[in-house]
Amino acid sequence: MARITMDHIVKKYGDGFPAVNDVSIDVADGEFMILVGPSGCGKSTLLRMIVGLEDITSGDMIIGDRRVNDLAPRERNLAMVFQNYALYPHLTVYENIAFPLRLAKMPDDEVDRLVRDAADTLELNEHLERKPGNLSGGQRQRVAMGRAIVRQADAFLFDEPLSNLDAKLRGQMRTEIARLQKRLGITTVYVTHDQTEAMTLGDRVAVLKRGLLQQLATPRELYENPGNLFVAGFIGSPPMNFLPATVEGTKVQLPFGSVDIPADRAERAAGRGLLIAGIRPEHFEDASLAAADGRTGSTFRAKVEVVEWLGNETYAYIPFESPDEVKAQLLQLEKDLDGEALRTQLVVSLDGGSRIAEGEEAEIWVDGSRMHLFDPATGENLTVDHERAGRIPGAEVAAGAPTEG
Ligand SMILES: Nc1ncnc2c1ncn2[C@@H]1O[C@H](COP(=O)(O)OP(=O)(O)OP(=O)(O)O)[C@@H](O)[C@H]1O
Ligand SMILES: [Mg+2]
Repeated sequence: MARITMDHIVKKYGDGFPAVNDVSIDVADGEFMILVGPSGCGKSTLLRMIVGLEDITSGDMIIGDRRVNDLAPRERNLAMVFQNYALYPHLTVYENIAFPLRLAKMPDDEVDRLVRDAADTLELNEHLERKPGNLSGGQRQRVAMGRAIVRQADAFLFDEPLSNLDAKLRGQMRTEIARLQKRLGITTVYVTHDQTEAMTLGDRVAVLKRGLLQQLATPRELYENPGNLFVAGFIGSPPMNFLPATVEGTKVQLPFGSVDIPADRAERAAGRGLLIAGIRPEHFEDASLAAADGRTGSTFRAKVEVVEWLGNETYAYIPFESPDEVKAQLLQLEKDLDGEALRTQLVVSLDGGSRIAEGEEAEIWVDGSRMHLFDPATGENLTVDHERAGRIPGAEVAAGAPTEG
């Protein structure tokens, strides 16, 4: 096992475009690190540079204590687990796991010991004589990991291993991978563009946009303290709402009315003119239910256009208008996020018990203490709590936050 240090890594392909642009990420020994971001942001390129399948233009790649920039893939002792698991259909589970050891001409008794050890860990003992074709998806995944385990690799690397599976199987496999990684305690780097996988699997998550590291933090830090509009919009489903806002004292003026926010947050956003407020759907509630719970905060009245009742919760959609300045920034954000979100309406998540109906003018409660305020020009989160935001490159100097590496 080993730590992996990416130090100012740059990758420029033939046309000179930096697919990975000065990225520094430190993966601790045994850590589960996620690389996440929209298509083309450089995730696979970065992973391929760790394994050695892609040359590094500049920067240092360090695995354990060794600089591996100039080492061939097989000299790096890493195990890449591919999307299709690359199992041999004509070989038994036993021989599939033993494969790399056979290649290395290891003596039979040694092979047997390692394969049975791995099968124990992976709970594959009963299946050793079967062929991959007769296994479930989860079992196949475990066989692929077994092959990586017997190699006694220093780290596991995954590139979107679950993207071809249907939603249910993907959920099962996600749990499986999380469980195994915890049990084995092996350093893991996992690429995905799925924010749910990022949130549920990672000890820490590196969010990338067009080759640039945006934030490196735990899932909770990313969720509660996104460093900029991009991270705020990427993490969370349904996504955070973005609204035009101006701050006066401790009041934030929104299209629907004004909302009180904590004084320290208001202070940081004071005198900045037009801003973008970010509020997650779950930080709204049906005002009558919030009042019954004794929750204090601001309320506003708005016409609800569509209601989706899901049983445990209700989504209500409330259209609003934005000034052009805010519209332009949100349009750009939509492009950056691969157009995943439409932002002409407010999405609020209410308790399933809410009786708010379509077409009704409803009273909605909002938790102002959870609101973020973003600079529309730069996208920077003005209200971020740097102590609980992990690392935000570029913000370190400005905010006087501690820097890493
Ligand atoms: N061999 C190559 N030659 C030139 N450009 C490349 C090459 N491989 C990738 N790129 C470019 O580098 C950028 C990053 O690509 P990469 O495959 O790392 O993205 P990704 O984040 O893995 O995206 P996806 O989610 O679609 O897999 C893209 O702009 C891509 O077009
Ligand atoms: Mg990729």
